[in-house]
Amino acid sequence: MPDNEKQVTWGGRFGSKPDDLMQVFGESISFDRRLAPYDLQGSLGHAGMLAEVGLLTPEEFEEIKNGITELSEEIASDEFQWKLELEDVHMNLEQALRAKTEAADKLHAGRSRNDQVATDMRLFFKDACQQLRTALEGAMGALLKLARNHALLPIPGYTHLQRAQPVTVGHHLLAHIEALGRDHERFSTVAEHANVCPLGSGALAGSTLPLDREHVAKALGFVDDQGLPRLTPNGMDAVADRDVFVEFASACATCSLHLSRLSEDVILWNSSEFGYIDLPDSFTTGSSLMPQKKNPDSFELVRGKTGRILGNLNNLLVTIKGLPLTYNRDLQEDKPPVFDSFDELSLCLAVVAGALKDSSFNEEACRDAASDPLLLATDLADYLVERGVPFRKAHHVVGELVSLSEHKKATLPDLTDQEVQAVCPQLEPDWREVFDLERAFAKREKPGMPGPGQIEGRIRYWESLLD
Ligand code: ARG
Repeated sequence: MPDNEKQVTWGGRFGSKPDDLMQVFGESISFDRRLAPYDLQGSLGHAGMLAEVGLLTPEEFEEIKNGITELSEEIASDEFQWKLELEDVHMNLEQALRAKTEAADKLHAGRSRNDQVATDMRLFFKDACQQLRTALEGAMGALLKLARNHALLPIPGYTHLQRAQPVTVGHHLLAHIEALGRDHERFSTVAEHANVCPLGSGALAGSTLPLDREHVAKALGFVDDQGLPRLTPNGMDAVADRDVFVEFASACATCSLHLSRLSEDVILWNSSEFGYIDLPDSFTTGSSLMPQKKNPDSFELVRGKTGRILGNLNNLLVTIKGLPLTYNRDLQEDKPPVFDSFDELSLCLAVVAGALKDSSFNEEACRDAASDPLLLATDLADYLVERGVPFRKAHHVVGELVSLSEHKKATLPDLTDQEVQAVCPQLEPDWREVFDLERAFAKREKPGMPGPGQIEGRIRYWESLLD
């Protein structure tokens, strides 16, 4: 085969070029082109180091650097022509640089696509985690505003989707904020784990060239708090390891679970049966048939996309499971699931923020539902405990009173003093005070409880972090 027909990057030992089908099957340029900014950054760092150790002349380095700047601009303005036959982002960019300067032929010294793609992805993860943290702050900010506006509005809290005990909108929304706050922290941890430089690992066994790994790591920002370089300690592990992919996909999965559960609460609250929350027209849709419908599709889709984001994590785990060390081409399949999780979760966070920003709680429906006296049955048992009745006995007493009121088709506080004292003499004439919601909340002023002071404290805490 004439030289000009050979695969430009690795065609030397091949007698034929790849079959068209193999090219389509093997390409990753359709999805890894988004790594271009990181790949160029990595190449610049590597070239700088090659110049430093004398493997590139200052002039060659200058030409490479200028070429990289031009390529960055072409890519940013969408002028760059991606070629499927060049397989992936690494070979496309190397060849495009070669068209600008012959010095590009020296760039791949001491480097393999294996450590190159590992580096690109670590740079991607550092950025992606930061972007998701910002998106999380948007969603948390929208929740926090609602929590602030309706901090003390009582609503029933549920277990088994049965009315359990009264809480406030502030307490309930703060529960979701706390969960998203843990996601925010988790993405910092993932970014921290991504912050290690694999360049210099080569294909798996490093290089005989006098590479300066510390130099590259510093140039690419893979440094600790003191500015010291952080290097992967084993070349085989460095090119085979996909832990950060799994951690990232898992953090996305956990965060999407939180958004899905929040969505389910909102969808229930938005139903006519609950009627606690009104969603804005801008994040709901109508029915093609039923003119009266206003559907909470935004939250349903967030819940739906969670299935896909959880699937991405599983996809990745199964892809990696049976692979021997080190790099195997299966690993090219590691990128679509993490890109998809990143894109979809970013969208979900933006939609949740947008939809909640203009939502409002229906005060009357919330207060009405929270005025159900049965929500305070446990508080009545506590009342008896404070008067010396053992809790298990108090539980039975209140159970009997509930049953009695049901028979009389009355509410619990409608029972007469004589009726309740016949069941338990420790129920003194002040027993009905238990059914005052303000009292119920005021008595819950310990950390984690829905007392007004607790809610205010936690709202302020998040406000101070998010402002
Ligand atoms: N496109 C490849 C990937 O994403 C780059 C690494 C290729 N390495 C190789 N030895 N073929 O995995």
